[in-house]
Amino acid sequence: MASGWMISASAMVLMMLSSSFLIMIHSSDGANLKSEVNQPKYACADGGFDSRFQDFPFCNTSLVIRERVDDLVRRLTVSEKIELLVNEAAGVPRLGVPAYQWWQEALHGVADSPGVQFKAPIPAATSFPQVILTAASFNASLWEEIGKAVSTEGRAMYNSGLSGLTFWSPNINIFRDPRWGRGQETPGEDPLLTSRYAVSYVKGLQIGDYEGTNVTELSVTQAATNRTGPKRLKVSACCKHFTAYDMENSGGTDRRHFNAQVTLQDLEDTYNPPFKACVKDGGVSCIMCSYNRLNGVPTCADHNLLTKTIRQKWGLDGYIVSDCDAVAIIHDYFNYAPTPEDAVSEVLKAGLDLNCGTYISKHAQKAIDEGKLSEVNIDEALSKLVSVQMRLGLFDGNPKTQLFGRLGPEAVCTKENQHLALEAAREGIVLLKNEGEILPLSKESTHTLAVIGPHGNASDDMLGNYAALDMVEKVDAIVLIVGLNEEQEKEAHDRKDLLLPGQQQTLVTTVAAKAAVENHPVILVIMCGGPVDISFAKDNVNISSILWIGYPGEAGGKALAQIMYGDYNPAGGRLPLTWYPEEFVKVSMLNMHMRPNETSGYPGRTYRFYMGKTVYDFGHGRSFTNFLSSFVLAPGTIYSKKLIRQVTSFQTSPNSLGLIRHFTSELDAEDPSCENLNFDVTLNVTNTGNREGSHVLLLYAKPPTSVKGLPNKYLVAFDRIHLQAKKSKSVVFNIVPCRDLKLVQGEGKGVLYPGLYTLTVDEAEHSVILILDS
Ligand SMILES: *[C@@H]1O[C@H](CO)[C@@H](O)[C@H](O)[C@H]1NC(C)=O
Ligand SMILES: *[C@@H]1O[C@H](CO)[C@@H](O)[C@H](O)[C@H]1NC(C)=O
Ligand SMILES: *[C@@H]1O[C@H](CO)[C@@H](O)[C@H](O)[C@H]1NC(C)=O
Ligand SMILES: *[C@@H]1O[C@H](CO)[C@@H](O)[C@H](O)[C@H]1NC(C)=O
Ligand SMILES: *[C@@H]1O[C@H](CO)[C@@H](O)[C@H](O)[C@H]1NC(C)=O
Ligand SMILES: *[C@@H]1O[C@H](CO)[C@@H](O)[C@H](O)[C@H]1NC(C)=O
Ligand SMILES: *[C@@H]1O[C@H](CO)[C@@H](O)[C@H](O)[C@H]1NC(C)=O
Ligand SMILES: *[C@@H]1O[C@H](CO)[C@@H](O)[C@H](O)[C@H]1NC(C)=O
Repeated sequence: MASGWMISASAMVLMMLSSSFLIMIHSSDGANLKSEVNQPKYACADGGFDSRFQDFPFCNTSLVIRERVDDLVRRLTVSEKIELLVNEAAGVPRLGVPAYQWWQEALHGVADSPGVQFKAPIPAATSFPQVILTAASFNASLWEEIGKAVSTEGRAMYNSGLSGLTFWSPNINIFRDPRWGRGQETPGEDPLLTSRYAVSYVKGLQIGDYEGTNVTELSVTQAATNRTGPKRLKVSACCKHFTAYDMENSGGTDRRHFNAQVTLQDLEDTYNPPFKACVKDGGVSCIMCSYNRLNGVPTCADHNLLTKTIRQKWGLDGYIVSDCDAVAIIHDYFNYAPTPEDAVSEVLKAGLDLNCGTYISKHAQKAIDEGKLSEVNIDEALSKLVSVQMRLGLFDGNPKTQLFGRLGPEAVCTKENQHLALEAAREGIVLLKNEGEILPLSKESTHTLAVIGPHGNASDDMLGNYAALDMVEKVDAIVLIVGLNEEQEKEAHDRKDLLLPGQQQTLVTTVAAKAAVENHPVILVIMCGGPVDISFAKDNVNISSILWIGYPGEAGGKALAQIMYGDYNPAGGRLPLTWYPEEFVKVSMLNMHMRPNETSGYPGRTYRFYMGKTVYDFGHGRSFTNFLSSFVLAPGTIYSKKLIRQVTSFQTSPNSLGLIRHFTSELDAEDPSCENLNFDVTLNVTNTGNREGSHVLLLYAKPPTSVKGLPNKYLVAFDRIHLQAKKSKSVVFNIVPCRDLKLVQGEGKGVLYPGLYTLTVDEAEHSVILILDS
């Protein structure tokens, strides 16, 4: 039930923490299949099984993993192998190999999922803010720190027999449409931001840190971090859902029936880059293919995507898993494969290794009998799975004797991890509006606050009660908490509009008008993942400040209070997505085009292409202090094949522009030598205000205007810095044009165009001319 509370400022933190309105959302893929958690028994262990198992080569840690994998696979019968290709892998008792549940989730903390059990001695894990808020910090080291904390807790739960080690996180699909129910799980709408998030979080999970481990085991630790050596894994991460998956249920079509029609251009410069970065730069050990079809072909049955792209082009060292029941639907839902055996054969031949679901275990034998599938296909998939298990140490005997073996219940929900959850919420919360600098509140003059929430479902009845509301007269300020909850945005459910649900808008306007009469400031707090159209509040003079808090996790209330009272002033968070107005819903959610279409009136999507008006822009976020940025050193002209000229000129001469006409052909951005071309941009950033604070630097490029279909602007680099009042700092970005300024042509080819690029940071601009004398 909603309620209005009158509380003193000092009591506020307690109040917010003890109340239930700061909900946490845990999401998992597919159906709620709860299975038995693995018994705490381990392959190649010295207890529980006959000790002779340890003498098998697959148990011998002196051998390289490839040899161990081959040895195990060689010993298995076809039917034993088939039973290992599903998420509830059966195990091989005669060889001492226990069953294994592959399905664990950890989007923002180890989460309830089939392989995770929360019970004594670990009844809960640290709940970090939902990813969309953490992304708003634009702080890559924070993302990695969270990954490390989550993998430490995951290892501790594994050691206690309460979890496996394969986590199907992060979700790195581009948040393409504001109505998407799972957009909150992602880092937002920008390919660079999403790629950086994926790489940082995956590294945090898989490499982790080694605090609490035995220093005498340092040699093993080095092996774990040695990219060229045997790549041991702290836990295994999984980037999902590949690809062009960002729709649950809209316009009569659900995600399991959706055929995403995507141009090669959009695929290459929007949908795929996070996955490419996750594999190439993050070294992820798993990719999950999605439910949807891509241009007619189910992604899990697409050899071009799974084998040619993920494995051969990007070099995945790991396994590919289907989203849950995504193999079954290939025949059962859209009849892409005429029989179940065809479906199973097609996915395995396409490069899939693990079936979340049961389809492969049910139908693979018959597929082999019918000659559709060969045992070689099975062996290839199984080898990749076992290889990941061995990299995790699942065939090294009792985990208590291994690296990370000392991580137990005391490593979960530590003070440090809880502080990190608070830090993440503080860094991510976005100050959308602050008229008259009402925030931060003064502790001296703001003794009594009315906190009105929960936001959930303000009914007409409740509204009536609020209009009968006299507390407004007795307080110094009013905090109104509104927004969305799991009912409105969740897995399998997209929103139909972008408005605040129920009577919330009326409630806010009514309370704010009443407060205005008493001259009390109103602070509006918006809790949601996807954007809501709050133009009414943005333009309402009775509402002084607006904060967006995402779904802020276990420390959300505390973070909010600290920010409102200025105990913590980064207020550095920036929106990781465009906040569209309600009129955007006339656009079909099923239209996957990123670029606008003048003929059809389609406005395009995300800040890179969208032409319509916004409520708040991508990157919007105010601070309690002011920052001034300027370019101090940056080249004016770049020649591709000559030495780069570092010039400090801020003017581009007409002569240089004339030169471009002679060199109009673009450069192949995928050419490896292209990466040698690079230059530094040096900025001077000053905190001109009276408070210390954090500041997010977003370096955008506006591309040459001569080519059609290019983005309005695009993010090429970002950083988050902290500055004391009145202090300056120089920040250097190294720009590799073929990586950072690359644009994609109609057929999906990445190129570097010659011409004039305008770099912008805050209000500062600088022009660079690229002359490609190829
Ligand atoms: C493990 O492999 C090493 C290297 O080949 C070998 O020397 C050793 O004897 C093996 N250990 C067992 C128990 O077979
Ligand atoms: C970024 O995150 C790290 C890790 O939590 C933190 O130590 C650092 O202060 C943050 N940087 C800024 C500028 O907020
Ligand atoms: C560290 O590991 C070594 C070798 O495994 C062992 O001998 C030693 O007792 C361990 N030390 C601690 C403090 O656990
Ligand atoms: C990393 O692994 C390679 C290959 O196994 C080895 O040559 C190198 O010495 C290792 N480096 C470190 C720092 O352990
Ligand atoms: C909101 O309240 C109305 C009226 O009490 C009720 O019918 C409706 O189901 C509620 N919606 C949600 C999402 O709780
Ligand atoms: C603001 O409050 C005043 C005083 O109650 C009221 O007259 C006015 O309509 C309110 N403005 C809006 C936009 O609600
Ligand atoms: C733009 O819209 C028109 C009209 O609907 C359509 O014929 C055309 O194919 C569209 N162009 C692109 C590039 O999708
Ligand atoms: C940086 O900018 C500040 C404020 O404009 C100025 O005072 C300072 O001298 C600049 N520093 C450098 C190195 O340009």
